[in-house]
Amino acid sequence: MSATGSSAAADEIESLRAQLREHNYRYYVLDEPSIPDASYDRLMRELQALEAAHPELVTEDSPSRRVGAEPLTEFTQVRHELPMLSLDNAFSGEEMAEFDRRVKQRLEREEDIEYACEPKLDGIAVSLLYRDGVLERGATRGDGRTGEDITHNIRTVQSIPLRLMGEGFPALLEVRGEVYLPRDGFEAMNEQARAEGGKLFVNPRNAAAGTLRQLDPRVAASRPLEMCCYSVGVVEGVPAGAHWPDQQSDILDQLQRWGLRINAESAVVQGVEGCDAYYERLADKRDSLAYDIDGIVFKVNDIALQEALGFVSRAPRWAIARKFPAQEESTRLLDVEFQVGRTGAITPVARLEPVFVGGVTVSNATLHNRDEIERLGVKKGDTVIVRRAGDVIPQVVSVIESERPGDAQAIRFPDHCPVCDSPVERIEGEAVIRCTGGLVCQAQRKQSLKHFASRRAMDVDGLGDKLVDQLVDEGLVENAADLYRLSVEQLAGLERMAEKSARNLVDALETSKQTSLARFIFALGIREVGEATALNLANHFGDLPPIIAASEEQLLAVDDVGPIVADHIRQFLDAEQNLEVIDALVTAGVAWEKVEVADAAELPLAGQTWVVTGTLEATSRDGAKQALQQLGAKVAGSVSKKTSCVVAGPGAGSKLSKAEELGVEVIDEQAFLALLDKHGVEL
Ligand code: IVH
Repeated sequence: MSATGSSAAADEIESLRAQLREHNYRYYVLDEPSIPDASYDRLMRELQALEAAHPELVTEDSPSRRVGAEPLTEFTQVRHELPMLSLDNAFSGEEMAEFDRRVKQRLEREEDIEYACEPKLDGIAVSLLYRDGVLERGATRGDGRTGEDITHNIRTVQSIPLRLMGEGFPALLEVRGEVYLPRDGFEAMNEQARAEGGKLFVNPRNAAAGTLRQLDPRVAASRPLEMCCYSVGVVEGVPAGAHWPDQQSDILDQLQRWGLRINAESAVVQGVEGCDAYYERLADKRDSLAYDIDGIVFKVNDIALQEALGFVSRAPRWAIARKFPAQEESTRLLDVEFQVGRTGAITPVARLEPVFVGGVTVSNATLHNRDEIERLGVKKGDTVIVRRAGDVIPQVVSVIESERPGDAQAIRFPDHCPVCDSPVERIEGEAVIRCTGGLVCQAQRKQSLKHFASRRAMDVDGLGDKLVDQLVDEGLVENAADLYRLSVEQLAGLERMAEKSARNLVDALETSKQTSLARFIFALGIREVGEATALNLANHFGDLPPIIAASEEQLLAVDDVGPIVADHIRQFLDAEQNLEVIDALVTAGVAWEKVEVADAAELPLAGQTWVVTGTLEATSRDGAKQALQQLGAKVAGSVSKKTSCVVAGPGAGSKLSKAEELGVEVIDEQAFLALLDKHGVEL
């Protein structure tokens, strides 16, 4: 290789590295990707090829060198020159106010203190050491004084730069923060483990910890770890003329400019009122964040004031973690009962010793199905960990086996329905077991009546679950049509039912008779026909008789209806007793307006399949999907040879690359909007 050849290659390599760093920064730190994944991969392959041809030009901070070749044989210990401290906790607004009072008292200040607020990520604390801007070492917190060298795993985390960007960084800079797994990454990881029959992780925190503890960096490289930075440790050799920030919030901004990721929710507030408002806002937002947080960290923003306040033992006096109510608690599994659902599915439900978790007292939790029970290895009498996050049904997430009592009992699945005693059916390859009783089974009957009357179905005001149970138990109602034959006298004769409520219910039933076709279809409770599918069926067929007459093939032409759903619909409408109930409902006066059906074959995009990907400015992806459906297109979730066209907004990734690969037409948002405009479709 000639000298000029090599220097041209060196220039090219440097240019590729700079581009890759910039794209990484945009994607992982700013969360504003600017090129599709495929283009990024192309740049990376070019760099790898050039580096392979010029091994003498390879440097450790090259974006191609994230995963080392060989696994470690053991971990080495790292001493933290400045100890990594922990935080005091506040569990209430009162404790938070006390913290603020102490701060003001020590500083002898009357006026509001300015606080930096940061979500407290539930991950693993790590320290990154940059020497002359190059990542030299990553370490765990350990006991605060001594941690473990995990550089090999840290290097695989895409949001951690191997080299800092920009200038003005100190010769030695220690950055601290939290490494964690976002929820979707965690779900994907467990999904894969489940498919491979591997061991599942209990929560994202354990999964992140387990990953960082691996000797082989290829494991970490295959998992979507992220890092969020929240402070600095050792800082030495700030270049002359560079200004070192004197506020916590400015330190974070500076770290971001150097290419490190900080939390997008970070904010500065005034006084304890500001802290409380921030806390409430994030508590409301908690479940919609992409990652788990267990509280908010409030830090006195002014570094000079931090220094004046100093530390007590292992925690600073200038910061506090205000915790959210725990979403996981341990309690005892007292018993397991089997509940029969609307479609006969029998679900094991854990009866628990009541425990306060996620802000409410929980005494029941779902155990899903047999596979889940096997996976948990749970027995009656066990101490279990229960999780309740947001409005999600409480779940048993794991068993503390070391606390298993001697008389713990295995959980036995019933052979017969616990309600109607019909035999239970187990379908090969399915985890659920089902009662074969159909509408003979009182449980199924009750559930389907509850569904029929529910708000999003026939919306019968005042017909709650307890009342349905009573009506069925008293033998007054067997099917939905019977509801419309109930008289005020019959209802008033029920326990805890006054004449006025009885009259109101009869009126509500009368009102519910006027409905829409989509609601009526949904109310029937056909397996796997939810609101969206019901709406698609209504729009496609326009009325009920054509649906009853439709072949499986014709049903398959409806959006979102695949072979399984089509089969469920056919089975439901082929059952004589279901048709009788439908007839009786219509005779009782239940009615809907017909939906006007456009002749699908004449719509401009008839017969075409479209895919929408990336972010659109003018509408959501759902909005775009509906607009396309109005024009007669089918909208699919993935790109294949059969795709007619892809609408790609910024941030489009693998679907766009796939389309390019297959030579499928791709249009941007502008062209998409022009198309809608041309056909008079409004978003
Ligand atoms: S500051 C001297 N800020 O919480 C201050 N910690 O209980 C030390 N944590 O081990 C930490 N988010 O892993 C700080 N924004 C944040 C944090 C945070 C999460 C974790 C950290 C630490 C633990 C302290």
